[in-house]
Amino acid sequence: MNKKNIGTPSHIRILVVEDEPELLELLSYFVQSEFNSEVVEAKNGLEAKKILEVDPHFDFVISDYNMPEMNGGELLDYIRSSHLPIKFILVSALDQSKIFQQKKITPDAVVTKPFFTEPLLSALRQLTEHLEIDSKPDQYTSASIDHLFRFGTVPYPLFAQLSDKKFIKVLKENDYFGIEELERFRKKNITHLYLESIHSQIFFKKQLDAFLALSQNKDLSHEELTIVNNDISLIIKEMVTIFGFSKELECSTKNAVDLAFHTITTDPAINGSIKNAKLGSGNPLILHSSRLPYLANYIVQIMGWESDTTPYKMALASILHDITLNHQIHAKFEFDFDSTKVAQKELNKEHFDQFINHPLKAANLASRFAEIPTDVEMIIAQHHENCEGTGFPYRLNHARIAPLSSAFIVAHDILCYYDRVGDQFKMENFIEHKNDHYQSGHFKRILIELILTSAK
Ligand SMILES: [Fe+2]
Ligand SMILES: [Fe+2]
Repeated sequence: MNKKNIGTPSHIRILVVEDEPELLELLSYFVQSEFNSEVVEAKNGLEAKKILEVDPHFDFVISDYNMPEMNGGELLDYIRSSHLPIKFILVSALDQSKIFQQKKITPDAVVTKPFFTEPLLSALRQLTEHLEIDSKPDQYTSASIDHLFRFGTVPYPLFAQLSDKKFIKVLKENDYFGIEELERFRKKNITHLYLESIHSQIFFKKQLDAFLALSQNKDLSHEELTIVNNDISLIIKEMVTIFGFSKELECSTKNAVDLAFHTITTDPAINGSIKNAKLGSGNPLILHSSRLPYLANYIVQIMGWESDTTPYKMALASILHDITLNHQIHAKFEFDFDSTKVAQKELNKEHFDQFINHPLKAANLASRFAEIPTDVEMIIAQHHENCEGTGFPYRLNHARIAPLSSAFIVAHDILCYYDRVGDQFKMENFIEHKNDHYQSGHFKRILIELILTSAK
């Protein structure tokens, strides 16, 4: 149970019941941004029932139908049989709403998933008119710092609460909300910041609609998406701490990864591949692909090769480059410097072929998208080639490896080296390790730039 911002005495009290954590959070924000309300959250019918047993003074229950422990229908039965004067709005998939057609006990309103924001608002407005309650929200609406962090760049000014009535602006519109800010607020025990309600109405409606649109795709579960979101903050912190990346790099990469992730999850085939890769289940390839954009952008930046689109290209290439690999079979070879020799010894023919062909297979998958620049396909196809012409699948001569591909390959090498040595990582050791190998073309230029940057 979680209690949100408490409004003035004229507020309405709403109990929101939903088993999907991110949807529960967004629904609460959304309702709170539209109405002068106190919102209490429950993650299933049983938790809601327990709340109502000790505190029945709610004006509304907004509830999902399908939930573990106790569903929305059973919760409604409990409310009606206890004669609680609470309006009940069921947020339901279409087929569940039909259940109530034959029942005596019916909700006061049913809004159907997935696109329910407008119907929910109009149901609430109609029912609050009846209750003669002021539906004007407070001037400020709260949002958790963890939620705001997910969006990188701040969409509207954010305020901290000093006292009951006093709010002070802490971040301007378009400021970056990065790991440093998140840590700063956490250290001061600030868990929530505030948006002006006039902005939060637009912001949370957009967030909720985007979430619902994304959740339409059955191939990627909410749970998987949530785990990825949570892991991202840890990955950024690790990258910034170990490699000392600048705030600009952190900011541009995080925004690019977010954009890239949204691009690829709109496609069912890619989405299916991500699902097969078992997101969020300790899959080392996903961790590898999430760290890589930071290093790839770092190399591009020190080489002066960046443009407006390079962070996005590197983010896409990172997320997609190993997407066709099976993490249980192939991960250890992906991270090995002499991967082909070891893989040939240890894998059967089918799995070895899958490994050798994965750069081309992933590039092929990327080529199906109009939104994905052709550079990205090239980077993906070349990511296991090397400076000495002994890579795979084509053993390309260094002169045939594109500059952005070279940057990506070096970033990949750094990451694999880091995986081996962990916290002991030092760039000078990596440079020493690769000094004899990066002796031609773009690789040599990158090596020199790494030496110069590390020597500063
Ligand atoms: Fe790979
Ligand atoms: Fe890789």
